[in-house]
Amino acid sequence: MRVKAPITDAARILEHGDTPAAYTEWREYLPLLGQRDTDYILQELTFSGFAASEPLGCARRRFSRMLLDPNDAQLDRWMQSLARTPAEDFRDFHIPWLRNLKQIGNPEHTASFLDCYEAGLARPSSVRPPESLIVELTRSCNYACGMCSSRTNGFRQEFTMPLDEFGEYIRVLGPTARTLRINGYGETTVIPNLPNYVACLDHFKYAGQREIITNLSGPEDCYEMLSRSGFFIFGSWDGHTAEIFESLRAGADFGAVNQNLRKLASALRSEPYKLNLIFTVQRTNLQSILPVSRMALELEIGLVLFNMVNEEGGSRWMEERADEIRGIFTEAAKLAEGTRTSLRFPDHIGNAKYDDRRASRTSGTRCDRPWREALINFDGEMTCCNMFNPFSYGMVRHPNLRLDTAQRFERLWNGPNASFFRKSINLSRPHPYCQGCYFLYPHEAEVARS
Ligand SMILES: C[S@@+](CC[C@H](N)C(=O)[O-])C[C@H]1O[C@@H](n2cnc3c(N)ncnc32)[C@H](O)[C@@H]1O
Ligand code: SF4
Ligand code: SF4
Repeated sequence: MRVKAPITDAARILEHGDTPAAYTEWREYLPLLGQRDTDYILQELTFSGFAASEPLGCARRRFSRMLLDPNDAQLDRWMQSLARTPAEDFRDFHIPWLRNLKQIGNPEHTASFLDCYEAGLARPSSVRPPESLIVELTRSCNYACGMCSSRTNGFRQEFTMPLDEFGEYIRVLGPTARTLRINGYGETTVIPNLPNYVACLDHFKYAGQREIITNLSGPEDCYEMLSRSGFFIFGSWDGHTAEIFESLRAGADFGAVNQNLRKLASALRSEPYKLNLIFTVQRTNLQSILPVSRMALELEIGLVLFNMVNEEGGSRWMEERADEIRGIFTEAAKLAEGTRTSLRFPDHIGNAKYDDRRASRTSGTRCDRPWREALINFDGEMTCCNMFNPFSYGMVRHPNLRLDTAQRFERLWNGPNASFFRKSINLSRPHPYCQGCYFLYPHEAEVARS
């Protein structure tokens, strides 16, 4: 006798998305989740097939652990809500929330998430679409910088957004975006068919500003192509000698990037604002701040952003050396006075304020990004800002779902995770990743308006 082929686990959720989550089983969600949600759920289920067949309405003990051991009243509210939550909402909102909660580490916040969810059911909010859009084309990289977790030993297709998906985001979100950045946690110039992605922008008549942050290691013709296509180029530049540069950026060839930088500076001399540098200040490159500032003046580079490194476990050294760093910043700022190069310094160094008149406001002081910006990661997950804060709004594109991109975007952009994040961002205890953030507002006019 032939065993009847089982229907796919996901069929019920796909066909009857309004089934209450309490009556569904974990395994039914697995084919419909992105990689990060899948990894999270499998870990929580301890990779057990038995646990995967547990109906959610019976999973009180498991939810207690996932919700970080809340009190009985909070857990009761969550369990009761599962009977009213459609399975497709649980997939889109509640699973990302459980992951977000793990980052935040405070069980009390689930009540606020449920408030946002319920308020959205009663009266959906409508925040204007983001004027700043960041699309991570690839998370693969040819370097292995000490401060960064993107280490893939070169280009990897599986960490790269398919061209047609990129086209969809540009078609749908391009018309309302004033700026578009095409990098994330990776090096965009390693993508072999990058010109096709850039061509998408013209194909969909994207009219806003185009930006890229790059380690400047790409082939010369790649930067020519980007310049021709009107990109503002932000090159990462953290050292003034080969020894310092290459020690911070494993895999870099200082001679090659130096050549690229100088060619770009020369090609863009009539539009210096199109070439910018990002200097990530670290313990071992303080002595490079002044020489790199001088080089920027000499090459007539438009802007140098000084960004303090974000290190796991904090950076005690920054506070200990805050006076020294302030002194270097002040000296560099004086060098740039009256020149065509603008240097931007953050308004704090670790916990120490840098309240010089030349310092620029950072998002650590007040942040407007969640209302104005969205980052779509290579795998279709939407997060909140260009600083790679891991807080998830959910997956714009789910595997196995052929859904309208505009509807998906709208659902998450005005969904409960985004609403929760906006509510909590400027409170005294925001997301841990936001504390002491160094995002420097690139356009002062925007700061004045916000
Ligand atoms: C993640 S990289 C991606 C673009 C490209 N691969 C590059 O290095 O320019 C974007 C920027 O983040 C900076 N960055 C990386 N790790 C950082 C960290 N731990 N703290 C602060 N900035 C960091 C890099 O120096 C770079 O300027
Ligand atoms: S080049 Fe950029 S993405 Fe690559 S490891 Fe360095 S900072 Fe990270
Ligand atoms: S990490 Fe937080 S504070 Fe910084 S830009 Fe992102 S949302 Fe704003």
